[in-house]
Amino acid sequence: MKLHHIFTYLLPLSLAYLSQAKTNSENPQPILIDTDIFGDVDDVGALYVANILYNCGLADLRGVAVNTNSQYGALAVSSICTYFGNSEIPIAALRPLTNETFFDDDEFLHSEYASKVANNWPRSLKNASSTPTPVELYRSVLAAAANQSMNIISIGFLTNLEDVLKSKADKISHLSGFELIAAKTRELVVMGGAYPSGSEYNFGHSDPESTAYVLKNWPKSVAITYSGFELGGDIYSGQNLDVISPPNSPILAAYQWYVGRGSTVRPSWDPITTLYGILGLDGFEKLGLSRMLAFANSHGYNSLTSANASNAWVNDTRVTNQHWLKLADGVTNSSMSWLLNQFFTHDPVQQTCFGRTNR
Ligand SMILES: *[C@@H]1O[C@H](CO)[C@@H](O)[C@H](O)[C@H]1NC(C)=O
Ligand SMILES: *[C@@H]1O[C@H](CO)[C@@H](O)[C@H](O)[C@H]1NC(C)=O
Ligand SMILES: *[C@@H]1O[C@H](CO)[C@@H](O)[C@H](O)[C@H]1NC(C)=O
Ligand SMILES: *[C@@H]1O[C@H](CO)[C@@H](O)[C@H](O)[C@H]1NC(C)=O
Ligand SMILES: *[C@@H]1O[C@H](CO)[C@@H](O)[C@H](O)[C@H]1NC(C)=O
Ligand SMILES: *[C@@H]1O[C@H](CO)[C@@H](O)[C@H](O)[C@H]1NC(C)=O
Repeated sequence: MKLHHIFTYLLPLSLAYLSQAKTNSENPQPILIDTDIFGDVDDVGALYVANILYNCGLADLRGVAVNTNSQYGALAVSSICTYFGNSEIPIAALRPLTNETFFDDDEFLHSEYASKVANNWPRSLKNASSTPTPVELYRSVLAAAANQSMNIISIGFLTNLEDVLKSKADKISHLSGFELIAAKTRELVVMGGAYPSGSEYNFGHSDPESTAYVLKNWPKSVAITYSGFELGGDIYSGQNLDVISPPNSPILAAYQWYVGRGSTVRPSWDPITTLYGILGLDGFEKLGLSRMLAFANSHGYNSLTSANASNAWVNDTRVTNQHWLKLADGVTNSSMSWLLNQFFTHDPVQQTCFGRTNR
């Protein structure tokens, strides 16, 4: 009996689709993730979704850029990727690097996890200062990508994307950052804003100037899909991780350290955004599921209404490639929560995901 058969036998029923196991014939969706890992923990959930779907052939994780300055961000990303056997994934740390750790002087509840994950799990990245800059990573990933193929998944501040859009031709590519994005990107998927209008942390908290720059200067030919505060904010995930996680699970420790008071339950902004960035609206069937997300609008575009990047949708019928997401009809926050928890409790030794054998 092969090792993976033993583990499959032990799987809970919900994941045991072995009779339907497919070979990975579809082209995996190439993605680059831009994360603010540090000040909230759902970025770890997002990296789980990306690594698991990478391993089972649905995503091609070309790189992870960090948009917060603490050296522990890039190191924690490396620990998560290494946990899933993906130590080769390129990671880029924002400069200047700091040694900052997280302190919650807002609610006095949440706690530091990035430095702890980075120092308690093995990782291939030894020092954040040896990584490329986010602009270098974006430019080399985009230069190597096929035309209109990349999905950029932004689950934090838009600092790096502003820098990429402003970047000039260099030895990596003779195209400017704007031209590279216009040529190579299929879609920008952004956790940011509130819909149809409101005010949200990723847009407004740290770098609202970058939000304004990116929304104003994004190539009009490249689609944008927004995942708003109201979507992930009403879908809690991480329930019972302490009961059902595999041994030595870094997401269990990260959620325990961050959430506080014995809980591991958090809203699901970043993991849902990453799920959409990989599967789109139509890819859920590849997991044996019916469609779980839908566009909430048919036309229009996002606009900013204040200096701190509050936003409001403009109902312009001439613009048809910008959308915001909602749960599909009949899908509840509990069923999305169930799906995310399947990822959060996934054990890398399983060699399968949702009945699909790994690459
Ligand atoms: C961060 O800590 C390292 C040692 O761990 C030290 O070499 C470095 O100078 C520190 N960086 C800053 C910006 O304080
Ligand atoms: C990382 O490398 C830099 C530059 O070589 C060095 O100054 C720093 O101390 C190193 N950090 C750690 C934690 O070793
Ligand atoms: C990619 O697009 C560029 C124009 O942006 C075009 O010159 C080139 O031929 C395209 N490459 C392929 C393989 O279609
Ligand atoms: C932005 O400013 C508006 C008032 O203009 C306020 O209601 C909102 O809470 C602020 N948002 C953030 C993220 O600070
Ligand atoms: C679903 O939404 C309701 C209403 O906001 C909330 O009380 C409940 O905790 C949510 N459940 C999950 C699993 O997210
Ligand atoms: C724009 O359309 C959305 C639904 O697509 C609606 O919720 C919103 O109120 C409309 N806004 C305006 C200003 O008409």
